[in-house]
Amino acid sequence: MNKILIVEDKKSMADMLSMAFNSEGYEVKCAYCVKDGIVLLDTDNIDAVVTDLKLPDGVGFDVLKSAKERVPSVPVVVMTAFGSIETAVRAVKEGAYDFITKPFDTDHLILIIKRALAEHSAKQENIALKKEFSNFLRIPDMAGNSKAWSEVLEKAKRVAQQKTTALILGESGTGKELVARTVHFSSPRANKPFVPVNCAAIPKDLIENELFGHEKGAFTGATEGRAGRFEIAHNGTIFLDEIGDMDLNLQAKLLRVLQEGEFERVGGTKSIKVDIRVIAASNKNLEHEVAQGRFREDLFYRLNVFQINIPPLRERRDDIIPLAKYFLNFFSNEMKKACPDMSKEIPDFIINHEWKGNVRELKNAMERAVILCDGGLILPEHLGFAEQKKNSSSTNDDSLFAASGQAVRIAEKARIEDALRTTDGNKSKAAVLLKVSYKTLLSKIKVYGIQ
Ligand SMILES: Nc1ncnc2c1ncn2[C@@H]1O[C@H](COP(=O)(O)OP(=O)(O)OP(=O)(O)O)[C@@H](O)[C@H]1O
Ligand SMILES: [Mg+2]
Repeated sequence: MNKILIVEDKKSMADMLSMAFNSEGYEVKCAYCVKDGIVLLDTDNIDAVVTDLKLPDGVGFDVLKSAKERVPSVPVVVMTAFGSIETAVRAVKEGAYDFITKPFDTDHLILIIKRALAEHSAKQENIALKKEFSNFLRIPDMAGNSKAWSEVLEKAKRVAQQKTTALILGESGTGKELVARTVHFSSPRANKPFVPVNCAAIPKDLIENELFGHEKGAFTGATEGRAGRFEIAHNGTIFLDEIGDMDLNLQAKLLRVLQEGEFERVGGTKSIKVDIRVIAASNKNLEHEVAQGRFREDLFYRLNVFQINIPPLRERRDDIIPLAKYFLNFFSNEMKKACPDMSKEIPDFIINHEWKGNVRELKNAMERAVILCDGGLILPEHLGFAEQKKNSSSTNDDSLFAASGQAVRIAEKARIEDALRTTDGNKSKAAVLLKVSYKTLLSKIKVYGIQ
């Protein structure tokens, strides 16, 4: 609930405004002089301020100044007397969001505040988005010794120098996103945004809005215009992950953007031009999808300019030990534990494992091992393979992990959170990812108190 501060010395007026804002669902704090107003600015989290001009111990400009000093983005509306244009101009010059001339209709004032708050939250959201996308401003850490992996990296670094569209293909968990980040952060665009879009996780009816943004009034509730991911990625890279899962209709729109480098926001008519490097990834065989009529052939050719294929882990077994060591180190650091050693049977054991879930499966196994072996030697049972085999044909609803106990609960919670992050909070997709039923996932979310 937004909190409004009203600074007005006439009690009847303050009460009337307070009631009007209350009935619109706002929380209201009233002050009858500048001094009390400043105290409330200091002690309460005020979202917007309405102040009278003439106050017993000063003027509304003092309230305006104090509010701007404390939170520059907080909107302040100054109530001015009829005919005093200079005061109104001064208010806006000194940073007021707007002014309103007395006598006024309270509905008009409420409208001004509503608009101010909506603009404010849209700005905050844009700042948050920019921050999110400037995270991980570097080439990711990684491990791997095999010839195949070196070739993948070599290709990634080569294509990075050009603006060429790259298509990264590989089974789930092989490292497609990691390679996409490597391309971007090795490229001349490295200090511009890297904007991932998970085409499979965003609901079909929202994805257009996510990609292209919308204009104010485009649909009910669109009180402000908002930039989409293509706009945010301007001068940087857009990473279209799981492109094989994109709806056919949207594929047509995407093709147009890729061909022309321009698009319109939803509900807009103005063309927006962007300069973007495109990286797409899929764990599907896109040629097969084309043959089945599920993927547009023209889009496939548009994306398939420079292909990087990441082989499954079982086809580059030389990477298994270096990756395992890398993850053991990583997780023991993260959990502030001593890095465990592998018992003598572990190397053969992991080199010969199937790794159907590829590097992600290996990473999860090593995380589990660090928790379960508690600084000692890693034994085969810490990896939980035997149990998993038993369960692999059915869903493993009792536990996502083989062993039991507190350690497993910690790891389980972390995996659920990870899955929810991957699917942007979509629980049914997370359940599929975790191979548990939707009901089980809901109950675990409740048990662990996951937000
Ligand atoms: N060579 C590597 N070194 C270190 N970590 C790696 C390596 N390859 C993959 N990983 C890690 O394995 C996990 C899976 O990688 P990533 O998410 O890039 O795979 P993906 O192919 O995009 O999978 P999916 O198709 O399921 O989205 C990530 O946590 C990633 O950091
Ligand atoms: Mg991925």
